[in-house]
Amino acid sequence: MAPLPHAAGGGARMSAAIEVRGLAKRYRDVVALAGVDLTVPQGTVHGLLGHNGAGKTTLVDVLATRARPSAGTARVAGLDVVRQARHVRRRIGLTGQYASIDEQLGGRDNLVLLARLLGARRAEARARADELLQLFGLTASATRPARTYSGGMRRRLDLAAALVNGPRVILLDEPTTGLDPAGRLDLWRIVRALVQDGAAVLLTTQYLDEADRLSDTITVLSRGRVVAGGTPAELKHRVGRRSATVRFAAAADLEAAGRALRRGGFRPAPAGERRAVTVPVERAGELAALVRVLDDAGLEPDELLVADPTLDEVYLALMSDPAATPEAVR
Ligand SMILES: Nc1ncnc2c1ncn2[C@@H]1O[C@H](COP(=O)(O)OP(=O)(O)OP(=O)(O)O)[C@@H](O)[C@H]1O
Ligand SMILES: [Mg+2]
Repeated sequence: MAPLPHAAGGGARMSAAIEVRGLAKRYRDVVALAGVDLTVPQGTVHGLLGHNGAGKTTLVDVLATRARPSAGTARVAGLDVVRQARHVRRRIGLTGQYASIDEQLGGRDNLVLLARLLGARRAEARARADELLQLFGLTASATRPARTYSGGMRRRLDLAAALVNGPRVILLDEPTTGLDPAGRLDLWRIVRALVQDGAAVLLTTQYLDEADRLSDTITVLSRGRVVAGGTPAELKHRVGRRSATVRFAAAADLEAAGRALRRGGFRPAPAGERRAVTVPVERAGELAALVRVLDDAGLEPDELLVADPTLDEVYLALMSDPAATPEAVR
């Protein structure tokens, strides 16, 4: 991908793309954010996870200067979101409200118009529009009215519109909700390209596999607080467990294996599939010991699979573990 032109750098080059400290946001009696800290370096993707109502959109809204924090600070591209809101808005790419798409205009005209509004010359605006249409696979539908676009095409045009100003900080609130699998993959490809090019992306998602594949770092919010953070690998390591799934052809073997494993000091649990158990194998040598236990019992599994925890497991553990409830963390 050709490098995108960027908004003017200013004096903020040395600071993180997003820097949030003690951020709180209260809507009357609802505490949407209750003291959030977050740092996103330039050139990285940060995934924001959390249950419905955890405060993800509120955080995006504060960063986008759409909501005013009740306490704490937030800086985007080195600029304060309250005191320098106008400058912040010029530096960010934001899907949704900001990028107003004219339904009657085609994708190209929409993008050209936006680029012109942002101060580009005619030829520059056209070039920018064509580059974005290409990037988002909208070239073939560039001239038909946006109102005829499918949901996925709309979403891509919306994101393209958010990138017209070549933002260094891009805020995406559930960007792939409603996209088909190909559309999701396309969006991931685009996000990676943007980040490779030096942009920082903050992305909220309900898809844990998406956060896992795309994010350099992740923050998990619960009830307005940070309950976990780190790289996907760190999160899995901290909360989840490496486990072996052992499958047998016969149900009787499965029962015998359960008994033998418990005798051997293992803690087998029903796996999510037929005739299989899952056994945590965290320490070195535990896997070999497991195989020995089964062998000694004369049991030969049909299949033995060792896997690291998925982010789903980490997330579910975080949400169900009372030790990880917001109060206990900070
Ligand atoms: N404008 C508002 N006025 C009053 N309460 C609000 C407002 N916006 C958000 N809230 C409340 O703040 C809390 C956090 O909402 P937010 O939209 O940030 O959650 P979220 O993590 O984005 O959830 P979801 O996954 O459903 O999108 C919720 O309790 C919500 O009802
Ligand atoms: Mg939301």
